[in-house]
Amino acid sequence: MTKQTILTGIKPTGRPHLGNYLGMIRPTLQMMEANSGNTNCLMVADIHAISGIADATKMRELTYEVGAVLLGCGLDATVNILFKESDVPEIAELTTYLMHVTPKGLMDRAHAYKAMVDDNRARNADADEGVGMGLYTYPILMAADIFVTDTTHVPVGRDQQQHVEFARDIAGYFNNTFGQTLTVPQHVIQPDVATVPGLDGRKMSKSYDNVVPIFDTPANIEKAVKRIVTDSALPADKKDPDANTVYQIYKAIASKDEAAALAERFRAGGLGYGDAKKILAEKIIAEFGGKYARYEHFMNNRAEVDAIFAAGAARVRAKAQDVMARVKKAVGVAV
Ligand code: TRP
Repeated sequence: MTKQTILTGIKPTGRPHLGNYLGMIRPTLQMMEANSGNTNCLMVADIHAISGIADATKMRELTYEVGAVLLGCGLDATVNILFKESDVPEIAELTTYLMHVTPKGLMDRAHAYKAMVDDNRARNADADEGVGMGLYTYPILMAADIFVTDTTHVPVGRDQQQHVEFARDIAGYFNNTFGQTLTVPQHVIQPDVATVPGLDGRKMSKSYDNVVPIFDTPANIEKAVKRIVTDSALPADKKDPDANTVYQIYKAIASKDEAAALAERFRAGGLGYGDAKKILAEKIIAEFGGKYARYEHFMNNRAEVDAIFAAGAARVRAKAQDVMARVKKAVGVAV
């Protein structure tokens, strides 16, 4: 098999919660472990987050938070590459070059941009209200992230699939115009990671205020789990596991056997939601109990996180400079 380079990015837009962990962090770390021997990059997409955060203190805080969460969850930064987007200036440089081969119409079709325009139209506002060029050209920056390491595989959730397809398109435009230069990446959607429901049954998301925290005290995790909305079935009643959020979250975190056993107890009757919530809270606390000390260590030793980011950026830049030299030669600004 040819050498694979995996890269994925996480925007530091909030404290990672159980939905982020189960939907993205855990499967990515598992994939990287399975891919050891190849190159695995995990990038904190801080430039991507600038317009969304728009607060320097929050940006710094959340960047450390994401770094500490990833390291706490067991990311081995001596084997894998953990870096910050802003530490690799070649990414911004490449973005400018890619602008010249990217049709405006491609950006017009981006789901995130279109959703904002639709929203504005629905409110009878100007179609582009609140749309900065950073948001509009977001997929080009993301393509540059992917190309600077000659990435072959990009693990992402379904919501990011279009962006990876755009990166493929952009690589194609560049290569067709200037000759084979950029590696065309492919996306990898983790097959059985469904979206994790939040406390109210909608998708777990900070913007819905329905998240279960991960690196938090057991008491706070229990408190959040108690807030899960359930129907009025009595403990003795038989319950459909697929119709209740407690089970849906449990299924996402537990092993297949554990999930099947809990489903059976719901179906049989006799398991109340209160007891089921205790089982779920214990499962979450157990999953993160062993990781908490590592997470806290990095939160309290930020210089260590900085050093890890710096070492990661140095490794990425060695490759990125190579890619930029190819790009500059291809367009003719360098020999
Ligand atoms: N856009 C991605 C998200 O919102 C984050 C991201 C930035 C990314 N650059 C990337 C993902 C490169 C994969 C590859 O989740």
